[in-house]
Amino acid sequence: MFPTERPRRLRRTPALRRLVAETTLAPHDFVAPLFVAEGIFEPRAISSLPGHFQHTVASLRDEVRALVRVGVRGVLLFGVPTTKDEVGSGAWDPNGIAQVALRALRDEFGDDIVLMADLCLDEYTSHGHCGVVLPDGTVDNDATIALYAQVAVAQAQAGAAVVAPSGMMDGQVGAIRDALDQAGFTDTIILAYAAKYASGLYGPFRDAVGVEIVGGGDRKGYQQDYRNRREALREARADVAQGADIVMVKPAMSYLDVVSDLHDALEVPVCAYHVSGEYAMVKAAGANGWIDETAVAIEQLTAVRRAGADFVLTYFAREIATELDA
Ligand code: PBG
Repeated sequence: MFPTERPRRLRRTPALRRLVAETTLAPHDFVAPLFVAEGIFEPRAISSLPGHFQHTVASLRDEVRALVRVGVRGVLLFGVPTTKDEVGSGAWDPNGIAQVALRALRDEFGDDIVLMADLCLDEYTSHGHCGVVLPDGTVDNDATIALYAQVAVAQAQAGAAVVAPSGMMDGQVGAIRDALDQAGFTDTIILAYAAKYASGLYGPFRDAVGVEIVGGGDRKGYQQDYRNRREALREARADVAQGADIVMVKPAMSYLDVVSDLHDALEVPVCAYHVSGEYAMVKAAGANGWIDETAVAIEQLTAVRRAGADFVLTYFAREIATELDA
């Protein structure tokens, strides 16, 4: 009790504060989400994600080189195709844009980076849903996971070390694990978007990849309801049982309770995705001079680590890695 106890003693100098800090944040804790577009000849700025681009394969390689220079060794790739169809077949086409880009990155960087591929169909389907749509407008779970299995094999063949299924279909991890193993990719890692919530924070991402749900639907029939906390553990346990190597919580800041739960309950690594809307909010407030965006970004990313995430997927990866280096 006071006056014996004086917690301020340990806060007196920067050196002391650093010595007793419970949480660290370093460039190697980040994974950078990156977009590569088919049929463009110059990188195209994404207005709702300042500092981010739809890349050409060449500019994507430049960006990854820049990330490696500042100590970021994880990248998560999203493809933006020129054509879409009902089932999203571009997602597993060996010459689809994601596969072309994965090969280019694997050839240049090999195992110097951890090459991850987002595994979903929404960028490739004409209707914008994450799977096969039935006549009544719902998404057919079992038909969809059979397609995800094909995408996983195409991505592994193209050089992805990690596939990251983000569609929230039941049984997707098991279907993917089986397909990868049968194709001989027993070492390909599955990073499961285990607890992915139906969030309003994905808006800028949908601009970035040009995805719109035709007819104005939503993903609440497959992504999680944000009123639920315990359900996340059920989802994550199911994914681990099916072979997930790493589980993700998404978004990050509004779901730190979930990050903490998964960290405490499971033995696999846990990560969190600080999503496009979270980045855009910080950037927008910073541009207005309302907050110090660098300070807030570091605070938020540190909070994600404090809650129990082993690493963070973030659009701030390069920018904040540069700050942390300095
Ligand atoms: C689906 C997918 C989405 C994001 C990653 N994978 C969008 C969605 O579920 O609607 C969002 C990422 C972000 O907002 O940064 N392929």
